Amino acid sequence: MKIVVGCDHAGVALKNEITPVLKELNIAWEDVGTTTEESVDYPDFGERVSELVSTGKVDRGILICGTGIGMSIVANKFAGVRAALCSETYSAKMSRLHNDANVLVLPGRIINSQTAAEIVRVWFTTSFEGGRHQGRLNKIQAIEARLCK
Ligand code: RB5
Repeated sequence: MKIVVGCDHAGVALKNEITPVLKELNIAWEDVGTTTEESVDYPDFGERVSELVSTGKVDRGILICGTGIGMSIVANKFAGVRAALCSETYSAKMSRLHNDANVLVLPGRIINSQTAAEIVRVWFTTSFEGGRHQGRLNKIQAIEARLCK
């Protein structure tokens, strides 16, 4: 699996704390920044990750900002991106089982590194259930197609 990770200044610390978990899971990632705590604009980094997921250049993405809200707003504007903001493992698991989420959004200023690590582990080891949920994703795709016209 190929993944891409991006964050703003409020997400750098948590990003550095979750990359060992990716290593442990044998997941190769590309980091598109930012890499320092100097203030940047989250849409710039949200766009980099979401574009790569939307165009199928990578399988999944992780985005981190302070609350996770800004990154979620950006990511869910991209066709085919299903971004899930998760602060606990139940949402992380359900976002894979029911929503086939392909971007995990984490709130860097809200959760600690242990919770983030648990979320990342669950999110990458849970498969989409399909079935009735696939029909619902098809409806989302139809909405996207209609709105993009
Ligand atoms: C940056 O201060 C903060 O606004 C950003 O990280 C994020 O929380 C936006 O939604």
